[in-house]
Amino acid sequence: MASYDVIVIGSGPGGYVSAIRCAQLGFKTACVEGSDTLGGTCLNVGCIPSKALLHASHQLHEAEHNFAKMGLISDKPVVDWQKMQNYKTEVIDGNTKGIEFLFKKNKIDWLKGWASIPAAGQVLVGDKTHSSKHIIIATGSEPSVLPGIDIDEKNIVTSTGALTLGEIPAKMIVIGAGVIGLELGSVYARLGSDVEVIEFLDEITPGLDAEVQKAFQRILKKQGLKFIMGAAVKSVTVKNGKATVSYTKLKKDTKHQAQADVVLVATGRKPFVDGLGLETLGVALTDRGQIQTNANYVTSVPGVYAIGDAITGPMLAHKAEDEGIAVAEILAGQAGHVNYGVIPGVIYTHPEVASVGQTEEQLKAAGLNYKVGKFAFMGNGRAKANFAADGFVKILADAVTDRILGAHIIGPMAGDLIHEVCVAMEFGAAAEDLARTCHAHPTYSEAVREAALACGVGAIHI
Ligand code: NAI
Repeated sequence: MASYDVIVIGSGPGGYVSAIRCAQLGFKTACVEGSDTLGGTCLNVGCIPSKALLHASHQLHEAEHNFAKMGLISDKPVVDWQKMQNYKTEVIDGNTKGIEFLFKKNKIDWLKGWASIPAAGQVLVGDKTHSSKHIIIATGSEPSVLPGIDIDEKNIVTSTGALTLGEIPAKMIVIGAGVIGLELGSVYARLGSDVEVIEFLDEITPGLDAEVQKAFQRILKKQGLKFIMGAAVKSVTVKNGKATVSYTKLKKDTKHQAQADVVLVATGRKPFVDGLGLETLGVALTDRGQIQTNANYVTSVPGVYAIGDAITGPMLAHKAEDEGIAVAEILAGQAGHVNYGVIPGVIYTHPEVASVGQTEEQLKAAGLNYKVGKFAFMGNGRAKANFAADGFVKILADAVTDRILGAHIIGPMAGDLIHEVCVAMEFGAAAEDLARTCHAHPTYSEAVREAALACGVGAIHI
């Protein structure tokens, strides 16, 4: 029986990052992973492979729509789907092997197999029980599938199956206009599929700033995605390789059907805690199946901690990473902490959508006195040169103190631009602090500065 200071269960971004920080802080650390490769959902069947397909399909879009405008004349590129899949696999391999290297470098033992926790201080992997002072559960999440739908990962797929389809479908129906549905829907629309999105609510991407939601949907429609809004999918059946989706339009209470070659079910995710033995151990869950923790990530069982998608909060790789670092620091007696008010969210479509802090709707609901600074990428020279002038930056600041309360960006590289606002918010900056910071010209980041200027004396290029 091996003995450790910390055993982390799960090697996704929460787990592997936590294991590395634990090892760096001097703990004898192991990480349990039952899959063949390290990296969890994010590296194997989530963030990384979907970004590879988004990147490849965006290049196709550029070649089809913008090359000729710049004097680059060539035949329309042909999509070799198998080669695109190989490229995606190489990207995954490079990343997962990178984690293996980091584990070796930091002397972290990879315990191969699926873990359960028979008692505090013990982790069972296969037929071996390992002891550990601290156990960190970082088991992530899995797709949450609607009742009445049987996933076969061929005609009815989750995000996992959508990454490895045998061929590009002529017609795809996406259930759910959330992050997964719109990212993967964009991929297949660019590759030539007729993509129709069926969404329960009247707006896409629940929780985003309403102005961004509207602009985003308008842009996606222009790119060819179709939307059926305010419609609840009830069931999906498959016959002779064709899927039939039955849905109800909520306002009129009318029943409809639609057919597709592939149906992507992207209706959210739920914590993955099966097989850990939490019930016997006495680890308390919320009514949504998340592991309950206190502010120090301790579960209801002392010595057992939990982080990432398995606990409350947004299901984001970077939120899990930050919690993984924080819990390691707490175990080492340091002041590990995550600022949940400044966690950016990014949708990697084109244009990208990024947000941090509060939306205008949240500020209104809280009765706060705020001001809005907005700047359209239309006024940004770099964006215009790059055919990327769709979208805007919106900064929300306190009307009296000018402190930045939130930022919402739809536009080129939004997922990178958002971070200067994140840093500013961490320092409690005012919009004027951003506005007075020199931004290199010509960069997309000038649009962020202009939005900050618009909170005060006014933007220049408008
Ligand atoms: P989501 O929660 O973002 O969106 C699900 C959508 O499905 C909602 O708009 C909901 O109203 C709709 N829906 C639910 N039931 C329905 C029904 N019966 N008929 C029609 N529509 C229905 O979930 P999603 O996109 O599956 O993503 C899961 C999680 O993974 C999210 O927390 C997301 O943040 C995370 N994620 C983050 C990424 C990123 O940061 N770029 C990428 C992929 C996933």
